[in-house]
Amino acid sequence: MNDKKPVDIIQDALFSSSVFKEGGETTLNQSYIPENLKYREEKIRRISQNFRPLFLTKSGGSEGFSTNIALTGPAGVGKTVTSRYTVSNIQSMAEKYHIKLYTDYKNCWTTRTKTSILRSFLRDRFGVASRGFSDEESTDILIRRLNSEQAYLILILDEVSVLPQRDIRGFIHLPEEFGSEHRISLIMISRPTEWKVTLSSMVSQRIADVLQFHPYTLEETREILSYRANLAFKSAALSEEILDMVAEISDQTKNLRHGIETLYRSGRGADQRRLDEISPEMIRRAKNDVFPEMRADILEELKTHELFTALAIARRLHHKGITATTIEHSFKNYRIICEELNVRPNGEAAFRNYLSTLETIGILGKVTKGVKGRKGVRARLTIHDVPAAVLIERIEVFLSERFQMT
Ligand SMILES: Nc1ncnc2c1ncn2[C@@H]1O[C@H](COP(=O)(O)OP(=O)(O)OP(=O)(O)O)[C@@H](O)[C@H]1O
Ligand SMILES: [Mg+2]
Repeated sequence: MNDKKPVDIIQDALFSSSVFKEGGETTLNQSYIPENLKYREEKIRRISQNFRPLFLTKSGGSEGFSTNIALTGPAGVGKTVTSRYTVSNIQSMAEKYHIKLYTDYKNCWTTRTKTSILRSFLRDRFGVASRGFSDEESTDILIRRLNSEQAYLILILDEVSVLPQRDIRGFIHLPEEFGSEHRISLIMISRPTEWKVTLSSMVSQRIADVLQFHPYTLEETREILSYRANLAFKSAALSEEILDMVAEISDQTKNLRHGIETLYRSGRGADQRRLDEISPEMIRRAKNDVFPEMRADILEELKTHELFTALAIARRLHHKGITATTIEHSFKNYRIICEELNVRPNGEAAFRNYLSTLETIGILGKVTKGVKGRKGVRARLTIHDVPAAVLIERIEVFLSERFQMT
């Protein structure tokens, strides 16, 4: 019989030994930027070179400077981390040379319009509440502000293809509107398909440099994972053989995120089972739970009703034999979920907006037109990339944080 007092259980759960070093778990988060980025030296150099003129302006920077560069390459090859790493170091360098430089990172999946990107920047950095201002007004405020401070801005726009085309044009045509004197530079990141299909023809004339990222080789993957494992785990927790295993798993998809998430989940698994070493079995189990194509970090930032909507569809598709569902059906499910959580449901128009957001960010499969029936053309909904059960599990984790679901 287990006669531990609840308080001891809590104490145990909080402080019992872990395979992770203190603070190690967070080093495997998506947003963590490691101190070293092996095999990306050349990219770091090239990104930096594009910003040399910043450091050549007369001290105090009375002149404008602006450039746009693009990074493209498949999933999990270090585009995001390399850009953030480089820009953050350029920022430190600027401080050293007394050049006033602002930097910001926006994932366009979570900040989905030019207006919201500008607004949040103005609010967070300058304390300007620009709600109600038009795009042009916001841009104008920003440019004036930078001019008066003789400051520069480097803005990373990750997953830029998610922005409406009009907004992308708005960003890259700043020089025409505001003269070549302005001080805003852009680093635009996108996957190759999006780059080729939508962006390249639209923006290429305005892009000073396009950097192609390629997947790491197996050896490189192993080296990097070894470094990341060292940051995260106590030395006894992970053997060389286990590291080989993770490197091979990651190499199969050519997506480093696969390896990093496998490390993370297997570490969590070991802790839950109170083991102080990660076993091959745990890696195998963790591997099956990792869907590198799914953007867990994006899920985390979805608004509550969007999560409800995704859950509604996933639950419906979780039934045996059902591969697609309808808007009507999902809307019904959405209302049930709202009821379960005591939240007032929004109307069908709002619901359709959530659907199109989920479609844009790739969680929902293309809302294809179904056959024409008595009720007119009916859209059919499917989900992409991951099994419904996995999607349900992930969403419920986020919802339980927000709602203390039982
Ligand atoms: N050279 C490296 N050294 C250490 N960690 C790395 C390196 N390259 C990538 N990573 C890590 O691998 C993971 C995937 O990298 P990142 O998120 O930058 O990929 P991405 O190319 O932006 O992928 P996506 O197109 O899916 O957004 C991150 O956790 C990142 O920290
Ligand atoms: Mg990325």
